[in-house]
This record gives sequence, C-alpha cells and structure tokens, in this order.
Amino acid sequence: MTKTKTAIVVLAAGLGTRMKSGVPKVMHPLAGRPMIAHLMATLETLAPERLVVVVGAEMEAVAKAVAPWPTVVQEQRLGTGHAVMAARDALDGFDGDVLVVYGDTPLISAETLDRLRAARRAAETLDRLRAARRAQAQPVVVVLGFRPQDPGAYGRLIVGPIGTLDAIVEAKDARPDQLAVTLCNSGVMAIDGARLPGLLDRLGNDNAKGEYYLTDIVHIARADGLSCGVVEGDEAEFIGINSRADLAKAEAIVQERLRTRAMAEGATLTDPSTVFLSHDTRLGRDVIVGPSVVFAPGVSVGDNVEILPFCHLNGVSIEAGAQIGPFARLRPGARIGADARVGNFVEIKNASVETGAKVNHLTYIGDARVGAKTNVGAGTITCNYDGFFKDHTDIGAGAFIGSNTSLVAPVKIGDGAIIGAGSVVARDVPADAMALTRGPHMVKDDWARMFRQRRAAEKAAVQAKKKE
Ligand code: UD1
Ligand code: CA
Repeated sequence: MTKTKTAIVVLAAGLGTRMKSGVPKVMHPLAGRPMIAHLMATLETLAPERLVVVVGAEMEAVAKAVAPWPTVVQEQRLGTGHAVMAARDALDGFDGDVLVVYGDTPLISAETLDRLRAARRAAETLDRLRAARRAQAQPVVVVLGFRPQDPGAYGRLIVGPIGTLDAIVEAKDARPDQLAVTLCNSGVMAIDGARLPGLLDRLGNDNAKGEYYLTDIVHIARADGLSCGVVEGDEAEFIGINSRADLAKAEAIVQERLRTRAMAEGATLTDPSTVFLSHDTRLGRDVIVGPSVVFAPGVSVGDNVEILPFCHLNGVSIEAGAQIGPFARLRPGARIGADARVGNFVEIKNASVETGAKVNHLTYIGDARVGAKTNVGAGTITCNYDGFFKDHTDIGAGAFIGSNTSLVAPVKIGDGAIIGAGSVVARDVPADAMALTRGPHMVKDDWARMFRQRRAAEKAAVQAKKKE
C-alpha cells in the first residue's frame, strides 16, 4: 500500500463576532487550554507532512499557541475558501491529501480524521483497478458530514441517488427543500492536493454573505464530472463553536470524555457530573474524588489519594495516600507528600507538605516547607509577603505548630520544635526548642458581673430620661 501524504490547513482567522469577545475565538479555553490547542494535539497524532494555520491580522496569541507549526495571515476575512487560498504558498507542489479543518470545531477525533483519509485512499485503490472510470471512482473531495439534533445554520450536504455528494449549500443560501436536509457539513474535508489549486481558482462570492465559500468546491468539481463523497460521523465531534452557549456545550462534551477516561483508569468519581477536570489532569489508581471538586491545569494525583468534596486544585502534585479537603484550595507549586493531610479551609501555595504532615484546619501555607510528620495547628498563617518581597518559611520534621500561630517569613523552625498557640514567630527557633510569644495572662475576679450591673443601670437611666 502506498502511503498518501497528508497536509493540514487549519482555518482560524475568524473573528468570532458572536462570541462578543476581545479574545480570538479559537483562544477560548476548553478543559483549561485554548480550543485550538485541543485541535492541534489531535492533528499532531496524524503525523502530517505539512500543517499550516490560517490566522487573522493581530492574532499573535494564536500564532504563539500553535508554534512551532507555521501560520499564514489572511489579511481580509473573505470566507473559508479565501482562507484556504491564503495557505496556497504553504501547499505549493503538494499532491497528497489536503485536510481542511476549522479551528472552531476542536472536538474532532483522530479516528474520524483517519476514516476521512481512508475514504480517499480506498477510492484510489479502486481507481487503479478500473482506470477507465478514474473520474467517477476517485472522490476529489470527501466531506465529514453529521446529523445534528438542530441543523440550524450548518451547511447542508446535498447527496445524489447513489450516495455521492453533489453540493454543499449554506443555510443562508438554501431553498426550503434544501434546508429540510438533515445531513450537515462539519466543515472538515479531505481534498486531492493536486486538484485543489484549480478548484480554488474558480471560487466566486456570489452568495448571501458575499464570501468565497470553500464549500463551493464540491459543485465545481461535480460540474467537471469529478466525484465527491461523504463520511458520516457523530455530532459530539463536530460541534462548531460560534457563541458562548456553544462553548459551554463543547466544554460539557470534553468534561464527559475526561471523566470517562479518569474512571476507566481506576479513579472513583462519586458524582462525576460535578467534577471538573483539565486536559492534563492525572489521577492514579484508587483515587477517590468526592462531589464538586475542580482540577485546574497541572494537577497530578498519586494512587490511593482521597479528595473530599469542594476542593479547588491548580498546578499541584499530590503523592500516594494523601487526604485532601473538604474545602481545600491548593494553588500552583503545592506539593503534598505521601500520606499527608490537608483539611478544611486550608490554602497552600508554592509549598511542600512532606510525608505524613498534617495541616488540617483554617490555615495558609505559602512559600514554605512543612517537614515530615509535622502538625500545623488550626489558624496557622505563614506571613510570606511584606508588600514587596515574598519570603520562605521552613518548618522542620516532627514539629508542632500551636493553633493561631503567625510565622513571619523569612523564618526557620527546627525539627521537633514546639510553638505555643497564638504566637507571632519572627525569629528562628532551634530544633527541639519551645517558642512562645503571648501577652501576660490577666484575671480580675468578679469584673464581668460588676460591669454588666453598671451598664444595665446606665441604660435604664437613659431610657427613663427619654420618657419624660
Ligand atoms: C462553516 C461552513 C458550513 C459548516 C460549518 C460547520 C462554509 C462556507 N460554511 O460555516 O457549511 O456547516 O462551518 O461548523 O465554509 N474562517 C477563516 N477565514 C474566513 C472565514 C472563516 O479563517 O475568512 C475560519 C473561521 O475562523 C472558522 C472557520 O473558518 O474557524 C469556519 O468559519 P465560520 O464563519 O465559523 O463558518 P460557518 O458559518 O460556521
Ligand atoms: Ca463556525
């Protein structure tokens, strides 16, 4: 079997007017990364010979997101056909399959794209067998179609009696009988690279939007007696993101996929629909994730970790056997060691909590180390920021930090030290020492009772005066 080469053109120059956003549409995130990054990750698995992304003017952010793949700028946004014309130089001399995909349709799978490529290759073999029927047998364009619940504004695929594709009609240009067609254009197509330039040359813009529609290459090819085909796929892969509502629908689909994968890999999600994952979330075996837990990007969780409800985790690593939450917030750079515990209303940032340490209640640990088996009492705060600089707090192993302690960084607490509750610790404490900073304990017998008596009498006098 000869391997047909693949080039990919990603169209991403659209402004995404319906998003009502200052950010290019394809930069809006799904599962914690721009939608274009999802698409690029899928496309890379196809190992294309060439890949070029068509962007609009002033879309450096998109160029950065797709690097090292090259971009070309479509200066004026004159339609999907015009956008492919902008990629012409990048395709110069290429005679394999050209896949066109849309940046705003990022959920397509590599398997589906492979089926699309196969549809053209199978036809090629047929073509070699029956050279005489070359023109009919080899589809120059194969389009990925789908049957959405609501065909709405999608282009309609007009299919002939023997299942070949005759035309793609945009909803805005369609006659009522064409609008009634339920088979829609996903936008993704595979085109014979050798024929593409000739087809693009003949695109016009005489239509409802006054744009050069790429979709018109189908009827142009048909007019030349060439054949075109359709491969059908699942709606969930082809949802085109044009509005914030579409973005939310796509997010729901991505989340569903990520949850299914996490469970397949051995994590329990008690209430999967309330757990939000990122594209790169790594959960080990026998991890238990309670309801309403959010994983922002960059989280990896070891085996047998339990994450209790209502936690927010971002850029953290958690080692085997640790227990987190409920209501914990772990921020970038938090490293939670094996069998450690982080409890409710605890925030940890850029800090390591080493093996078996406990930070169980109402605590902020930032820019710090908490040594193995150390116990951090409720209400402990590392005062890591003076408004100008951030400083480090180093707590050794086996220490005991009493409740409501303020550790004023930079400060070092030695192994095995004990800090008395309520202390403000601004100087280093040696190993195995006890440190305590506390105002003198004052007790005045009967003071409270006498206070109440006096104030009650004063109040009664004021009220009597008002009545006069
Ligand atoms: C397009 C298809 C429609 C299909 C639908 C699927 C055409 C004419 N219509 O419609 O048949 O059902 O997608 O989602 O192709 N773009 C550019 N430059 C341009 C115009 C568009 O790069 O000048 C890019 C956009 O950034 C976007 C993609 O092409 O990623 C599709 O453009 P869009 O305007 O969203 O097309 P639809 O109206 O959705
Ligand atoms: Ca679109």
